[in-house]
Amino acid sequence: MSKKPPANAAWGGRFAGGPSEIMQRINVSLDVDKRLHEQDIAGSLAHNAMLVRAGIIAREDGERIAKGLAKIRDELAAGKFPFDPAHEDIHLNIEARLAALIGPAAGRLHTARSRNDQVATDFRLWVRDAIDAADARIRDVQAALLDRADEHAKTVMPGFTHMQPAQPVTFGHHLMAYVEMLGRDRGRFHDARARLNESPLGAAALAGTSFPIDRAATAKALGFDRPMANSMDAVSDRDFALEYLAATAICGVHLSRFAEEIVLWSGPQFGFIALSDAFTTGSSIMPQKRNPDAAELVRGKTGRFTGNLVALLTVMKGLALTYAKDLQEDKAPLFETADNLDLCLAATEGMVRDLRVNEAAMRAAAGAGFSTATDLADWLVRVLGLPFREAHRRTGALVKRAEALGCDLAALPLAEIRKIEPRISDDIYSVLSVDKSVASRTSLGGTAPSRVKRAVAAARKKYL
Ligand code: ARG
Repeated sequence: MSKKPPANAAWGGRFAGGPSEIMQRINVSLDVDKRLHEQDIAGSLAHNAMLVRAGIIAREDGERIAKGLAKIRDELAAGKFPFDPAHEDIHLNIEARLAALIGPAAGRLHTARSRNDQVATDFRLWVRDAIDAADARIRDVQAALLDRADEHAKTVMPGFTHMQPAQPVTFGHHLMAYVEMLGRDRGRFHDARARLNESPLGAAALAGTSFPIDRAATAKALGFDRPMANSMDAVSDRDFALEYLAATAICGVHLSRFAEEIVLWSGPQFGFIALSDAFTTGSSIMPQKRNPDAAELVRGKTGRFTGNLVALLTVMKGLALTYAKDLQEDKAPLFETADNLDLCLAATEGMVRDLRVNEAAMRAAAGAGFSTATDLADWLVRVLGLPFREAHRRTGALVKRAEALGCDLAALPLAEIRKIEPRISDDIYSVLSVDKSVASRTSLGGTAPSRVKRAVAAARKKYL
């Protein structure tokens, strides 16, 4: 018979033997949660200092523990920490290492604490940093968009509805739409951060503790605004992670839509922009190709954001209070999302700065598809006093005529125009050019270059 594996040091009192090999494999989370090591040490240092101050553990023990933790922090930073998957997760790894370094005093650190409040604290700290990182990265993308929008405040291009040319807009205005979306994304992260920033530490396993701990002190030491009010909530909810994933999923949708536009615009059918060698790849068989892989990968990778949000929502929804090991499945999706968010934002910023604009192609497309028809209808309303619906009908007839003659609205002879509405004067041509069209749209939030310039200045103040 094979020898029984030894019982786990953290709960060996009640156990005669250790876990089966398969139990170990399903239970171990070290490869994922080792990323919490800095947060885990910070939490332990705060808890240890509080235990000493509250007279719960002796000063000498507290000093030994703090020294040991500092040494472990160095080992981790130097990549010299002896990780051991037999110790399940990062928390037990650090605890075991502390025992190896300082002896029995290590066992006092876990007084008035459980891994349940410990992991909830560590994870909140990690997500808080991830939110701050996302905010900075999104801001960088906004800065890049603002620079390009400023540069192209007057560059005309077609604005689309139903993926058909609708009205001319400026490229700057189009880019500014994303500055706004990203601004709201930052707002969502900001809101999530404010709700996240309460400390679970001291909730212990689920019910609180009989020791005279000072939760306000550990909360403050870790930069939390206050301790969480309910110990059962503290150890069992992961809504902060869900909010992060939701904010990321929405941001990912924005990034993906922009990526899709880059793919379209850089293709030969549009030819609006070109990406350099820095953000494209070639084909191993078709020598002519320059593929927008970075944009495609942003579009593709952001799919995981939605998936990971749904994954954690699904993990959470059937869980009775309080902690269950299902909750260990919270980290992998979130880490994956965070890594890819960082990458997608960096790639987006890079492409925005890299892309070269083909103004001639944009201009040619901006005038196609009778895109100034609305301007013509508006002229009929403004100058002839027609009701808009009536103006719309006459304009439709003019478009039909131009289509039959195979020309643009601006190229329709006045004689042809007057067949449909005799009161039209040659002043009509003043509104049919794409430049006139965009310049006239000066309403708040409109595409007129003067508006775009002001919008860029306002957004710089607001977001940068
Ligand atoms: N690795 C665990 C997790 O991530 C730590 C908490 C373990 N708590 C417990 N009661 N077994 O959730």
